[in-house]
Amino acid sequence: NVYQATTSAPVNIACIKYWGKRNESLILPTNSSLSVTLSQDNLRSTTTARADPSFTTDRLWLNGKEDIIKPGGRLHTCITEMKRLRAEFEAANPDQPKIASFNVHICSFNNFPTAAGLASSASGFAALVYALSRLYVLPHSPEDLSLIARRGSGSACRSLFGGFVAWDMGSDDATGSDSKARQVAPESHWPEMEALICVVNDAKKGTSSTSGMQRTVVTSALLQHRISEVVPSRMAEIERAIADKRFGDFAEITMRDSNQFHAVALDTYPPIFYMNDVSRAIIAIITEYNRLSEQPKAAYTYDAGPNAVIYALTPNVREIAQLVLYYFPQAEKVFIGGKEVEAALPEGFNEAVAKRWEVGAVKGLIHTRVGDGPRVLSDR
Ligand code: DP6
Repeated sequence: NVYQATTSAPVNIACIKYWGKRNESLILPTNSSLSVTLSQDNLRSTTTARADPSFTTDRLWLNGKEDIIKPGGRLHTCITEMKRLRAEFEAANPDQPKIASFNVHICSFNNFPTAAGLASSASGFAALVYALSRLYVLPHSPEDLSLIARRGSGSACRSLFGGFVAWDMGSDDATGSDSKARQVAPESHWPEMEALICVVNDAKKGTSSTSGMQRTVVTSALLQHRISEVVPSRMAEIERAIADKRFGDFAEITMRDSNQFHAVALDTYPPIFYMNDVSRAIIAIITEYNRLSEQPKAAYTYDAGPNAVIYALTPNVREIAQLVLYYFPQAEKVFIGGKEVEAALPEGFNEAVAKRWEVGAVKGLIHTRVGDGPRVLSDR
């Protein structure tokens, strides 16, 4: 008998940022967060997990290279937790094969280069947990599985769902049983939601999320203000904006929250800079673009690196891509709806808000949309 499953899982990009842990080992956040799941047609992690009595140890390969599973580390925790769920399942279903004690081999690939600077831990841990849940034929919901993906990387818990996803911080500090993901709306609710990822060139390796947020929690007074006074109302407001499909409000909250996250990084001591001059130029360009209409038509957001993710609705995406290409004419070609995007400035746009950049400042644009949750590719 072969016990094996292959799944894929999506990337998610937060509109309300997770930044700070109240419990490091359980990965419990200091605030709730909310993200958009991006389509796996463009960006995904694909993972195969196999259990076999002949395996002498658990092993994992990431993009073809073996990764050591450190005892007590995050990978180890996720695999151990999934084996525990299988053992419980076997105890309750004595007719099921006894495979919980077998070692597993796990093989995972990202279809996007790590060099693109896109975080892969969220899709990677979501795909790993989901592959093991299929291998073990577990009855658990995505919400249950998000509790385990969270132990791999906090943001990974949100990749267990498609569409618009909240991670509720929870209040159970002893076990973290209520710190899990929840779908706010499926991808079908607002299929016009699209994203343009501006892949910004960046040579140096910055501060990791894990160590960066650790330092923020210890040193930033602004983080305390954010946690208690800002995020709770923002979570409620953005959920309502999504429910009512009010893009202008969704965009303003998203941009304000990205700004505050980077302000908190700067308030950390010593300070942390994730955005660079190119990131800031893109903010200036989007701000000028939004000035032209009554309501914002584009929302930028930045994670722990210089890449911009721009959310926009279908009718405006081409115009925004044209605008970005105008300032970064050396970026690789991009196609939208099968048609190449040509650089252009919208009517009335003040060109002087940014300079036109030299070769390589933006490598290219990735055009994608809101997408579904993890997929089963094979199950046997
Ligand atoms: C800026 O989930 O990578 O992308 O839990 O330590 O693995 P760990 O951190 P991680 O942090 C993500 C931070 C962020 C914001 C977000 O995705 O909400």
